Amino acid sequence: MTSDTTEHDHDITGTHAWQELSAHQPHVYAMHLREVFAVDPKRGRELVIDVGDLHIDYSKHRVLRETLDLLVSLAREVDLEGKRDAMFWGEHINTSEDRAVLHTALRLPQGATLKVDGQDVVADVHEVLEAMGTFTDALRSGEWTGHTGKRIETVVNIGIGGSDLGPAMVYQALRHYVDAGISCRFVSNVDPADLVGTLADLDAETTLFVIASKTFSTLETLTNATAARTWLLEKLGVGPDDGAVAKHFVAVSTNAEKVADFGIDTDNMFGFWDWVGGRYSVDSAIGLSVMAAVGKEAFADFLHGFNVVDKHFRSAPLHQNAPVILGLIGLWYNNFWDAQSRVVLPYSNDMARFAAYLQQLTMESNGKSVDAHGHHVTVDTGEIFWGEPGTNGQHAFYQLLHQGTRMVPADFIGFASPTDDLPVDADGSGSMHDLLMSNFFAQTKVLAFGKTADEIAAEGVDSHVVAHKVMPGNRPSTSILAPKLTPSVIGQLIALYEHQVFVEGAIWGINSFDQWGVELGKTQAKELLEVLIDPAAPAAQDDSSTDALIRWYRGERGR
Ligand code: F6P
Repeated sequence: MTSDTTEHDHDITGTHAWQELSAHQPHVYAMHLREVFAVDPKRGRELVIDVGDLHIDYSKHRVLRETLDLLVSLAREVDLEGKRDAMFWGEHINTSEDRAVLHTALRLPQGATLKVDGQDVVADVHEVLEAMGTFTDALRSGEWTGHTGKRIETVVNIGIGGSDLGPAMVYQALRHYVDAGISCRFVSNVDPADLVGTLADLDAETTLFVIASKTFSTLETLTNATAARTWLLEKLGVGPDDGAVAKHFVAVSTNAEKVADFGIDTDNMFGFWDWVGGRYSVDSAIGLSVMAAVGKEAFADFLHGFNVVDKHFRSAPLHQNAPVILGLIGLWYNNFWDAQSRVVLPYSNDMARFAAYLQQLTMESNGKSVDAHGHHVTVDTGEIFWGEPGTNGQHAFYQLLHQGTRMVPADFIGFASPTDDLPVDADGSGSMHDLLMSNFFAQTKVLAFGKTADEIAAEGVDSHVVAHKVMPGNRPSTSILAPKLTPSVIGQLIALYEHQVFVEGAIWGINSFDQWGVELGKTQAKELLEVLIDPAAPAAQDDSSTDALIRWYRGERGR
């Protein structure tokens, strides 16, 4: 728990439900999941929610039905439903920036209406989608060519944070839907190794750059974009005014003026709006590279997937509402069990970047220590997410998950049908996908139920080894299954997590939609750059550590 509080705190701990949950926790803590299942044998079939294509089993959590009732009461006590509706209606719930939060409008179907601040945002969204469709159709058919008349084969998305993680993750997840000979690459880091490595084997004549930046002022993105423009002109052997930039650079941004300043024709700009947060923007024009690769129809399915979960979040009763229940369970461990993190384990290699994507979504949203009114929070906020695809993680960090001293709640994600499969046996009776999924089910089972010392001793294990082999179990997990990793399913999964973030942020009373904590580092980096590169600039820093580090660096660089 945080101790740094003031008398004006948003004191969630004062609510009736919070106090009841505190009193209830020791009772649940004392129970092993083996016992929980023994006294409530139907929970494996009943503590499940089906939403869209997602089958979600939350029975292997350290919650009793009474716990769930109390958590739902907590949600009611802070008027979660009212707060949710305020978001969907476009109220300015991002108070520190005085903005609506309307990523859900990005996936409303054509014909729906939502007026915000007097403007029909759904019409605006579909106008941009249509422009994206026209452009990507031209790319995919070969009608749009590069400066020398060759068709585009590679789209390089240059962006960072939400302007990179979403499209990069989704592109990889939808590898099997890439169908027009256009592949994508993603450059984000201001470390030149990223751009240089990415461009090394590319042909400038067949490469298109999508410069993706909501603000069009992000240092990393503009620096990489400028370097990419230089690369292109050099490779093509043309000058900046020869028209090549217009054929090889398009922009995705909310800032037309800065796009034009950079030299990109605003006719080749795809817009979005200040009510779309960066980490909520993969379903806006920020998804342009994905649309180029998979086509506008698959992109429409992707958006539909989000919308399925949006409708569920908006209308399902709280007890049957997947983002609500999973968000509440996340909060339960975070605040009542002092869990340090949540691990996300997709049993899908194509979802390798999912945990990285969720890190920005959850941690930039809910890593806040003041509430929406600027008062210190009184409880820990901001779940820490991490993870790797199964089965790789099993051979790396699962040891700690199974036998370590910390409880790490886990989200397992798996699919019935594989994106790729290979036979295991020569006769074709087994498949690698079945092998993968047998690991999924085994891990969730072992985490929950473990193996006792008696069971191990009964197998004839040497007595001095028994303690080492005990599998304590009692470690919670959610199992999320879907028939297949489709565009719609990846949309559904993203929305499932977006709304969990909302639920937790709403209960903590924080603003999940600003990110002031990233600003100071940006400003100081700008100031320090001068000190690093200009030998005439005084190296002296206020603190002795930064001072010595900068002197060391300047010395190494001969400055
Ligand atoms: O790191 C802060 C941040 O503003 C993120 O919220 C955002 O996704 C990222 O930078 C990129 O911003 P932009 O799209 O404006 O370049």
